[in-house]
Amino acid sequence: MCGIVGYIGNQDAYPILIKGLKRLEYRGYDSAGVALLKDGVNVYKKRGKVADLERHIANKDVGGTIGIGHTRWATHGEPNDTNAHPHRSMDGKFVLIHNGIIENYGRLKKTLEENGYTFTSETDTEVLANLISYMYDHGATSFENAVQLALKKVIGAYGLVVLSTEEPDVLIAARKGSPLVIGIGKGEYFLASDATPIVEHTNSVIYLSDDDMAIIKKGQLTLKTIFDKTQEPVVQELDLDVGEIDKNGFDHFMLKEIFEQPRSILDTFRGRVAKDNKEIVLGGLYKVIDDLVQARRILIVGCGTSWHAGLVGEYLIEDIARIPVEVEYGSEFRYRNPVIGKEDFVIAISQSGETADTLAAIRMAKEAGATVLGICNVVGSSIPRETHAGVYTHAGPEIGVASTKAFTAQVTVLAMMAMVLGNKKGHLSTERYNELINDLTVIPSKIEKILQQNDKIKEIAKVYKDANNAIYLGRGYLFPVALEGALKLKEISYIHAEGYPAAEMKHGPIALIDENMPVIVIATKDKSYDKIVSNIQEVKARSGKVIAVVTEGDEVIRNMADHVMEVPDSCEMFSVLTTVIPLQLLSYHIALMRNCNVDQPRNLAKSVTVE
Ligand code: F6R
Repeated sequence: MCGIVGYIGNQDAYPILIKGLKRLEYRGYDSAGVALLKDGVNVYKKRGKVADLERHIANKDVGGTIGIGHTRWATHGEPNDTNAHPHRSMDGKFVLIHNGIIENYGRLKKTLEENGYTFTSETDTEVLANLISYMYDHGATSFENAVQLALKKVIGAYGLVVLSTEEPDVLIAARKGSPLVIGIGKGEYFLASDATPIVEHTNSVIYLSDDDMAIIKKGQLTLKTIFDKTQEPVVQELDLDVGEIDKNGFDHFMLKEIFEQPRSILDTFRGRVAKDNKEIVLGGLYKVIDDLVQARRILIVGCGTSWHAGLVGEYLIEDIARIPVEVEYGSEFRYRNPVIGKEDFVIAISQSGETADTLAAIRMAKEAGATVLGICNVVGSSIPRETHAGVYTHAGPEIGVASTKAFTAQVTVLAMMAMVLGNKKGHLSTERYNELINDLTVIPSKIEKILQQNDKIKEIAKVYKDANNAIYLGRGYLFPVALEGALKLKEISYIHAEGYPAAEMKHGPIALIDENMPVIVIATKDKSYDKIVSNIQEVKARSGKVIAVVTEGDEVIRNMADHVMEVPDSCEMFSVLTTVIPLQLLSYHIALMRNCNVDQPRNLAKSVTVE
C-alpha cells in the first residue's frame, strides 16, 4: 500500500520519479506527489492519479538530481492535496515520504504541539517529519542521527525516504514492516517499494530488512540499523524483465494477466515437474519435507484471494495426503490466541509477500515454535525472507489489483505439494501419482481453450452488467471457486456478490432468489454433479437466472440454465484451475461495461501492508 520512489545520482530525478510512480500506482492511487532538491526543495502534490500530478506540475521547476515521490492509499486523512505526500516539517528542512502507519502518532503529535509545532495535514507522516526536525534541534548530531532518534520513538510500520535542506547531498531510507528496495546504478541509486520501477535502470538490488536504515549519497551507500549497528549490504540480482511489467497490447493489466495463465502456470511447473512427468520436485522444501510428511496438522494462513487458494489447499492436502489442514484469515489468527506448537506446520500464502496480517500471523506462529512455509509470488519480499522454507509461484509480476494469475499459480503449488506429500506418505500409488502429474500438466492447454470463449463471455456480461446482486454457488473443490468468483465481481464492478457452498442455499440465501438475481453455478461433472443439478433446478423454480460453468458438451445443464460457459473436462481436483477462468473474464467484462477502473478499483490497493 502506497508506492515510494527515490533517486539520487547525476540524471534529472523528475522523469525517473514520475515513471516510477506510474509503475507503482497499483499500490495506491488516491493522490501523488514529488519533492526535488535543488537550491532548496520543491514539493508538488495533487489529489488523484499520477497523471493528475503530471498535469499539475507542467511548466513548473522540476530541476534536481535528488528527489522522492509517493503515490498514496489513504490511512490517516482523506485523499486531498494537503494530505498527499511528501510532507515537510514545519521549518521546511525535512521532507518525507512514508508507507505504513505510525500507531502512536497521536501522542507524538500532542508532544510536538506542546513544543510549538503546528500541522497542516491530518497525516501521521507529517508528525514524523516534525519529529525528525524536533530531534535535529534537540541533541541530534546530524540529519542521520535525527532520523534514528525519531524512529526509535515510533511504534508502527514504515518504509520511508527523507531528504533535508541541511544536508542536501543525501537521502535516508528506513524500513520497518513496509518494503523498500534499493537499486544500485553507476554512481546513482534508485529507491522503491518494489522492484518494478527499478528494473529498467539496474538489476542489482538490496532489499532492506526491518530496522535497516540506508544513508545514500551519489556513489556511496552506508547500511546500518536505526540502533547504529553496521549492516553488510547483500546485493541480489533481479530476475525480472521490463516486458513483464507492461500491458503488452492488452487494454488492461487484468486482462493481460488472465490471458497469461497458460504460461504462468507453466512457469510455476518449470523445473519442478521432473523425470518425464514422473516426479515433482519442490526444491524450496527440501530441508523440511521429511518433517512435513510427519506433520500433526497444517495451518494455512492468507487473506482475500490467497485465503481462497488456501481453502483449495485444504481440500487438496486432506484429499491427497490425508494430513489435517485448517485455513485461517491472517487477521483472525493473529488476534485469537490459537493453539499452535512446534509439531505444527504453517503455510502462509501471499502474492505480494508483504500482507501485514499474514506477516504478523507467521511471526506469531514462529514464536510458538511452528515451522512456517511460504507460498509467495514476489521474490525477495518479506514473507519468503521470514519463513523457514517455501515455494515461489513464479507467476511473474501481477499488476492488476484484482488477483488472477497469482491465484492459479498458488493453487498449482498447493496441488504439487499435496501430491508430493501424498506420494511420500504412501497414500498415492505411483500409478495414481503419475496420472495426477499428467492431469495437472495439461491444465495450461485447457485454459488456452477456455480463453477462446472470451467473446461469448462478453455477450453474457452484457446481459448482467446492470445487476445489483449476484450469488455464486459451488460444491467441494468448486466452493472456493464460488468465493473467488464473487470476490472478483464485487471488487472490480462494485456489484454485491456472495459465494456459497451450493447446498447452503436452502439455509437462507434462497430467500434472495427472484427473476432479478443472477446465480452463477459452477457445475462441472464431478461427484457432486447430480446434487448441483438439483440446486440449479431449485434456483430455476424460483425464477432465478442461472449462468452455469459446465463441462464441455453438458446438454443437461445447457437445457436448464440461461447461459453456459464451458470448460474442458479435467480431473476434479484440478478443476479449480479451469473453472475460475470464465469467472475472471465475466467479472472483467462486466466491470468494463460499467465503466469501472478495472486495474485500479476504488478504495483498493495491491499489497495491503497495513492491518
Ligand atoms: C483480490 C486480492 C486480494 C489479495 C489479498 C492478499 O483480488 O487481490 O484479496 O488476495 O489482499 O494479498 P496477498 O496475496 O498479496 O497477500
